[in-house]
Amino acid sequence: MRDDIFTHKNDLVDFIFDASVASVFDDMVKRSVPGYQSMIEMVGLFTQKYGQNDSQYYDLGASTGAVAIALGANNPYKNNRIIAVDNSVEMTKKCAKNLAGKAGNFDIICANIEDIKIQNASIVVLNLTLQFIKPAQRQMLINNIYQGLRQGGALIVSEKIHFNDVQKSAKINKLHIDFKRANGYSELEIASKRQSIENVLITDDEQTHFARFNTAGFAHSLCHFQCLNFASFLAVK
Ligand SMILES: C[S@@+](CC[C@H](N)C(=O)[O-])C[C@H]1O[C@@H](n2cnc3c(N)ncnc32)[C@H](O)[C@@H]1O
Repeated sequence: MRDDIFTHKNDLVDFIFDASVASVFDDMVKRSVPGYQSMIEMVGLFTQKYGQNDSQYYDLGASTGAVAIALGANNPYKNNRIIAVDNSVEMTKKCAKNLAGKAGNFDIICANIEDIKIQNASIVVLNLTLQFIKPAQRQMLINNIYQGLRQGGALIVSEKIHFNDVQKSAKINKLHIDFKRANGYSELEIASKRQSIENVLITDDEQTHFARFNTAGFAHSLCHFQCLNFASFLAVK
């Protein structure tokens, strides 16, 4: 279904992942996030490289389940569970529908990812989710993930990022608006969404992400993908 949420919204409240967002989410994310499809494809590649037999894969902030599907479809290992977590009831309903009949043993859990104990994991994915966690809580979440990962396991984090260089920041933000405009969003939709989401989606810069992985104890981390102001990081234990 096409995302036209902000064409007729005049009561601009903070953005939430409710039924109306869940119903258009797949269209919204593809038209708003440059490189989204590549982020999902890379999850498939990393599943093959970092997955392990007899371990769990986590999709934290699963929304409609695109990451969970990529984990299942690309998994060459044995005896794995794919745990998809989201705190939006509407998203978990949509996720359950999308995962039905797909390859993989799925558990779909409606919960706050900060309350989930990560256990026996070889892959954990936070695809466009960490940015919705309160900044002060983010290190604790990454530490918790690190503790629950097996040696050699991987954390994949994709996020909207910001740049401290003012000119670079202005240029890239403008290109992101051009990207949305080219995908059919009007000026009003772009401005309204920005206003609705600005208190909810808090970006970090690239250095903050690396510092957080480092503090948690990850042996290596790198940015494996970037398109405009969206980046995806791989951290290996
Ligand atoms: C931008 S979407 C993630 C997109 C999805 N991972 C994908 O790749 O298509 C962010 C999701 O995180 C969920 N979310 C935000 N904060 C959360 C929290 N504290 N616990 C669980 N889910 C959360 C939202 O409900 C939403 O579905």
